[in-house]
Amino acid sequence: MSESQPTSARQRPDTPTMVNVDLGERSYPIFIDAELIDSDTLAPFIPSGRVVIISNTTVAPLYAARLTAALEAADKQVDLLALPDGEQYKNLETLEQIYDFLMEKQVDRKTTLIALGGGVIGDITGFAAASFQRGVPFIQAPTTLLAQVDSSVGGKTGINHPRGKNMIGAFYQPRCVLADTGTLNTLPDRELSAGLAEVIKYGLLWDEDFLDWIEAHIDALRERDPAALTEAIRQSCLIKAEIVRQDEREGGIRALLNLGHTFGHAIEAGMGYGRWLHGEAIGAGMCTAAELSRRLGLIDQSACRRIERIVSAAGLPTRSPAELSPERLRELMSSDKKVEDGRLRLVLLGRLGQARLIDNTSEDEIMAAIRATHADS
Ligand code: NAD
Ligand code: GLY
Repeated sequence: MSESQPTSARQRPDTPTMVNVDLGERSYPIFIDAELIDSDTLAPFIPSGRVVIISNTTVAPLYAARLTAALEAADKQVDLLALPDGEQYKNLETLEQIYDFLMEKQVDRKTTLIALGGGVIGDITGFAAASFQRGVPFIQAPTTLLAQVDSSVGGKTGINHPRGKNMIGAFYQPRCVLADTGTLNTLPDRELSAGLAEVIKYGLLWDEDFLDWIEAHIDALRERDPAALTEAIRQSCLIKAEIVRQDEREGGIRALLNLGHTFGHAIEAGMGYGRWLHGEAIGAGMCTAAELSRRLGLIDQSACRRIERIVSAAGLPTRSPAELSPERLRELMSSDKKVEDGRLRLVLLGRLGQARLIDNTSEDEIMAAIRATHADS
């Protein structure tokens, strides 16, 4: 892992903040700054004269023309595909729509696919790039906070199966990530808070100093202060890059990135995808993970309360929804991908800033933590 600038955010597209993901010959930079989509930053990462931007019907009208103009100024021929917007379209049918478009445009193996959008667009475009003609160049241009701090980094790509989220996919690293923080200005408040859940997650699982920084800057982040957002994204990407460098294919340490996710996925599945945003479910899920860590004697009551305060200050729920009983939540946790040999592996907190994988937690303690962080408690 390395970085070009040690401290605060910078606004000039010609010297963007940068974090490197060190993966040998598959290493790549993450550029973080305002107005990057108007700059020539991408040109050196595009190996031929052709590009296909894949976006959706919400993001394309906002940003595709600007990105296209920048690419055309660098002598690239650009085609645009705007997919329908929503998690429900992250499926095989939409993937086929992408392949059809690429065939129709007679795309060759050097044509670069650019994902312009949130995590849904990034995941499906990445998988299309990994599989079309056995792999074409791919660039991530994330436009949600969640995508800028998490989904665009690390190479997980894929689509949902009707019976499970992200069940079909591949590890496929982008050639670079272009995180234009200016695009976050049009993001709905709820989506911004959902992205903050992942930012908090990094502080909790890896770096207590970063958690302190988040706590001190949470209002600035919610007000979309450009320097605060750039710094939050930079720190988050540094942590994710380090974890991915150590464990690209999730043989071990990468699982720590799932802090709060086993509880959160149960909320998302139980409520029906889309009613609670992923980040909202992770906010409540991290509070349950903290409560369980406290019950196991790993962190104390004041740490637990502090986590709830930070999650709440980010505009996120700290309790699981009343509509889902604790028993139903526990049942849903059993179908999570993190279940191995019938045993639930939980990411808990050893202390603030240090997560641990624990797979021998007693049922009584798990149920007690779920009940204590339920809306009806
Ligand atoms: P999303 O892609 O659905 O975007 C959220 C909403 O914001 C959408 O309606 C989108 O059109 C809109 N939007 C995006 N950018 C905007 C902008 N700048 N201005 C206005 N509106 C904008 O959701 P998300 O939270 O970005 O991503 C969630 C997806 O990411 C899920 O499918 C999840 O599985 C996946 N994910 C993947 C990874 C990974 O490592 N690959 C990690 C975390 C999440
Ligand atoms: N979002 C979890 C991971 O990338 O591993």
